[in-house]
Amino acid sequence: MNLKIVNKITPTLTPSDHPYLNGAWAPLHEEVDATEMEVIGEIPKDLSGVYVRNTENPVHDAIGTYHPFDGDGMIHAISFKDGKASYRNRFVQTKGFLAEREAGHSIWSGISGNPKKSLRPGWGARGDMKDGSSTDVVVHGGEILATHYMCGEGYRLDPYTLDQIGTAPWAPPEGISAHPKVDLTTGDLLFFNYGKQAPYMHYGVVGADRKLKHIIPVELPGPRLPHDMAFTKNYSILPDMPLFWNAELLEAGFHAPTFHDLPTRFAIVPRFGSVNEIRWFEADPTFVLHWTNAYEEGNEIVLEGYFQEDPDPAPIEGPNINPRLGKLLATIDENSFKPKLHRWRFNLDTGKTTEAHVDERNLEFGTINQHYAGIKSRYLYSTTTEPGWFLFNGIVKHDLETGDSSSLYFGDNRYGSEAPFAPRLNATSEDDGYLVSFITDLNRKRSECVVIDAKNIAAGPVCTIILPHQISSGTHATWASHGECGQ
Ligand SMILES: [Fe+2]
Repeated sequence: MNLKIVNKITPTLTPSDHPYLNGAWAPLHEEVDATEMEVIGEIPKDLSGVYVRNTENPVHDAIGTYHPFDGDGMIHAISFKDGKASYRNRFVQTKGFLAEREAGHSIWSGISGNPKKSLRPGWGARGDMKDGSSTDVVVHGGEILATHYMCGEGYRLDPYTLDQIGTAPWAPPEGISAHPKVDLTTGDLLFFNYGKQAPYMHYGVVGADRKLKHIIPVELPGPRLPHDMAFTKNYSILPDMPLFWNAELLEAGFHAPTFHDLPTRFAIVPRFGSVNEIRWFEADPTFVLHWTNAYEEGNEIVLEGYFQEDPDPAPIEGPNINPRLGKLLATIDENSFKPKLHRWRFNLDTGKTTEAHVDERNLEFGTINQHYAGIKSRYLYSTTTEPGWFLFNGIVKHDLETGDSSSLYFGDNRYGSEAPFAPRLNATSEDDGYLVSFITDLNRKRSECVVIDAKNIAAGPVCTIILPHQISSGTHATWASHGECGQ
């Protein structure tokens, strides 16, 4: 391996038995460039592009209880070309990260804490948080765009050098949520934000030239906690779900997500539609973290995602788990909130919604061939998790046409990351390509990049590249071709 250690940060973290500061979630504090890494098997020559992963890496002790989404964002990029791979990783140099580095301690209270305990004004839908840019990552207009789940500025990096380019100049004052969506057909980036001030949500479109093309307010009845949006060729879909902060407690300054006895609502708006063109549809109460795809079929808009059967789960109990930590653990444990693959159909003629589960297993964090985003897709790749944990232990592939599914288990004590689909060069069908994921192997105390044939996931990786260090876990990853990265 050809390894260059570019930077090492000395954390001020004190040792802790917090489950999300150890094991596969142990933070990483070094930045490296690596080539000529050990490969088990052979890297396919028709795998060409960049896998980009965002992870959570706290540097300082939390103010209050640490939540695994409070970490500082770190981007890992592994680039494939002609059967070779090169890897590098860098912290996202957010304003919050730099300020806390200078201070030598945490400045902002996290998701499980009280924003009043933050030492300075901050960012986000809830206010006075750190924008760690640690949640999501997409490639748009030839640049990486990293985002924070509770809204932030949007940080841009070069997909190859991981040089920091700055924040997204088009982002509105309220920031942008995680999960802006890239339409590969048009190059548009669709985004939304949410917050505590009326109208409580905005939706917008940025062109392939990274210039703002469109933005409208989406008026909600009050502060909400949407996490993801969806789009079809012609429409964008924005949710208003009944899991949101308790209004009375919010008045007193407490942010307590509570499941209300209200329908789930969906705003459906033409991509460049005006406020007057928003149509609202009602559906069964639930909370959905992630949608997998949406498309138009006849007079219906079809939406697919993971319907939570228990959006406000009871705390996980254990000998060393206090109720606050137990609640935190439950809200990130799929075994607790029970997300089921689900399909909604919104009839544009009648205004009615029909909906049903597609699968009864707990699944989430799904990926598709992004060239099929917005149109009807046949194949879906979901992750499975370790019960009680936010750790991905395998993948389930669905053929949504036949109803068949196949699966891959990563092995005991081996935990993967979101596994986006990478089309093979000159691909001839929707699933003609690979799934790429980073796996942390706690048996060997190392991380690997695995490349899986999407047509036959049960066969296991076609190649495994040993990464130069054990990375921390996190939430989201993406794949981009070299063309999408600007080459
Ligand atoms: Fe997410």
